[in-house]
Formats: sequence, structure tokens, C-alpha cells
Amino acid sequence: MDWGLKNRISQIIKPATGRTVMLAVDHGYFLGPTTRLENARQTIAPLLPYADTLMLTRGILRTSVEATTNVPIVLRVSGGTSILGKLSNEIITTSIRDAIRLNASGVALSIFIGSEHEKETLSNLCSLVNEAEEYGIPVLAVTAVGKEMVRDARYLGLCCRIAAELGAHIVKTYYCDGFEEVVGGCPVPIVVAGGKKIEEKEALQLTYDSIKHGAVGVDMGRNIWQSDYPVAMIQAVREIVHNNASPEKAYELFKKTATTDKRR
Ligand code: R5P
Repeated sequence: MDWGLKNRISQIIKPATGRTVMLAVDHGYFLGPTTRLENARQTIAPLLPYADTLMLTRGILRTSVEATTNVPIVLRVSGGTSILGKLSNEIITTSIRDAIRLNASGVALSIFIGSEHEKETLSNLCSLVNEAEEYGIPVLAVTAVGKEMVRDARYLGLCCRIAAELGAHIVKTYYCDGFEEVVGGCPVPIVVAGGKKIEEKEALQLTYDSIKHGAVGVDMGRNIWQSDYPVAMIQAVREIVHNNASPEKAYELFKKTATTDKRR
């Protein structure tokens, strides 16, 4: 593998554990000012010391994160649609030149398999991989966002495998029953999205199950920053991802750390 590509992937997936805690704060690109991400700078700042990677759009990166940060950036480069329209009808929003200018360690885009715009979004993925590989930049394909599809192992396995076949270097998907089949059929690393906010205990269980069944980490958003205790939550997630903590132990840590975390 190209040295630059390998180096950038190792900025995202930490070689010490082979795992990653990616902090997803890109939601505004189609959801607008999502609850507790209205002021992105305020949400992101206290979490940054605990994030292995920050996933966001160029607009939020430029306005809400200090350029002096040493947290690697995975730049979302697809969008152009909103929750009010056809979500799957995305375009590539950001050039590779701008991603390089912003010192991105990786670029991310969504694919919508089985949707009306399946072909266009897969075509976007192919174009992005072709361009990004010119510069040794890894591509993270985001699968299965939206409500249209049943998120079971058969569907997610299909999505992840297609993303990998078309050249994605990392795939982001959802956890499901039979997740090991999804992982087994995908030759590149998988990170799991958190999805809608659930109880902290459940989100930690989800993290644990994902890792246990073969994910290399999480790319989690709402279950961290919509918690009343986001700093405690990201630390608990890290304990599972990097230190193989049980969900019970991580939840104990969460409760303990929450006493010192600023309540919203
Ligand atoms: C969705 O397209 C975005 O990429 C989010 O980053 C993703 O859904 C992960 O965030 P959450 O853990 O809130 O689901």
C-alpha cells in the first residue's frame, strides 16, 4: 500500500490498538442545527482531547475548530440534500484540493444502496476513490443512513461489501444481529455509527457488541454529545474500544466521571 495512504489510515485507526473512536459532528450537513450541535464549537471543544478522529464538513471545520488541533480530520465531502428532500440524491460537495488544503487525513461520503439514487452515489464513491488515491487519501464510505432500508445483516453486508469492492478503505455502517457476517464479508475495516440517542448504558452495550463482533471502532455522534455528560460518555466509549472494558465497567466509569463532567 502507498506510504501516504497507509500513514493517513494509521492516523485514523490507531496502530497501538488497531481501533478508533471517531467523533461524528457532521450531522448539520443535512439535519441543520441538530439538538446539542447548534453551537458546534461549544460541543466539539471539550470532546476533542478524547477523539481519535473528528468527522465533519469543511464549513464546521473552518468555523468551529482551531487550526492548531492535532486531531486528525475525516472530511465529509458528500451532501447537497436535506432531511426535507431526497436524502439519497447527494453530490460530491468538496474538492480533493480543498480536502488537502484543510489537511484532511481522510474523506467520507455516503452511499445509498437500494435507493432511487443508488447508481449516482456509487458513482460518486468511484470518482472519489480515483481522485483521493492520487494523493494517498483514504476514503470512508458511509452506508445505510436514512429510514428507507431494513438495517439487517443481509442489507448491511451487501452495502459494506459493495463499498469495499469499489475501493473504500474504511466503511461506516450500523450494528445489527449477525454483525459478524457483515464483518466477515467486508475486506476493509468497519466502524459503527451510534444512531439516534439511546440510554448511555445501551449505547455502551452497542459499542461493546460492535467491537466484540469485529468492528475496529465507532464513528459516534449523538450518543456522545446528546448525553447530559458528553465528556464522561466519550471516555467510557474509549474504555471499551481501546481497553476492551466490559459494558458494565464502562458504565461504572461513565457514572463516576459524570460527577465531574459539567451537566448541560
Ligand atoms: C450521517 O450521515 C452522519 O455521517 C453521522 O455522522 C452518522 O450518522 C454518525 O452519527 P451518529 O452516531 O449520531 O449516528
